[in-house]
Amino acid sequence: MGCREFFNSLAEKWDDMCTHDAEKISRILDMAELKEGDKVLDVGTGTGVMIPFLQERVGARGLITAVDVAENMLKIAQRKNGAPNVAFIHADITTADLEGSFDLIICYSVFPHFKDRQQAIKNMYRFLKPGGRMLICHSQSRKEINELHMNSASKEINRDHLPPAAVVGEYLKEHGMKVLAEVDNEEMFVVMAQR
Ligand SMILES: C[S@@+](CC[C@H](N)C(=O)[O-])C[C@H]1O[C@@H](n2cnc3c(N)ncnc32)[C@H](O)[C@@H]1O
Repeated sequence: MGCREFFNSLAEKWDDMCTHDAEKISRILDMAELKEGDKVLDVGTGTGVMIPFLQERVGARGLITAVDVAENMLKIAQRKNGAPNVAFIHADITTADLEGSFDLIICYSVFPHFKDRQQAIKNMYRFLKPGGRMLICHSQSRKEINELHMNSASKEINRDHLPPAAVVGEYLKEHGMKVLAEVDNEEMFVVMAQR
């Protein structure tokens, strides 16, 4: 079983398995300084946890494109978030060819699962507006994320390691972006860069 099949098999249970701290998510999104009407790419949307938070900030004039490689996760996201300004795309972000360019590309709770991080960043960069931001984030600490994966009985994810923020920041700099924020503490993990 690969990553796609793994998340497909968990899709129906996902929302019961995970809790998200809304206050931390708000603090993370504050850093992105989203404006009404912005276009956002939500990578690894899963069951669409981030979509209502993004909608609240970009409003009805904004656009949200939610991408996931696991079609069962995406179906649930679609069922829960039916607004006309949200589009759902079944694709692997490392190879996806998407239309449009975005003010923000958010990777919430997905970066450790990218098998080729450099290729994922390289491909996402293509869809970023000049001045647009890429936000790689978790509302848990890196230690918690890595322990969760390492202790998982599932071989599909138990080597999915989240590197220190400084390392992720270097990846983004290598792709020509300017790092604006790095938070790697007991509360959360955030690396944000600008094209
Ligand atoms: C840990 S889940 C998080 C889902 C959601 N962001 C959340 O916080 O509930 C990671 C999600 O990323 C997706 N994913 C993993 N690698 C991907 C890739 N290369 N391209 C697109 N989606 C990917 C998985 O299918 C899964 O739905």
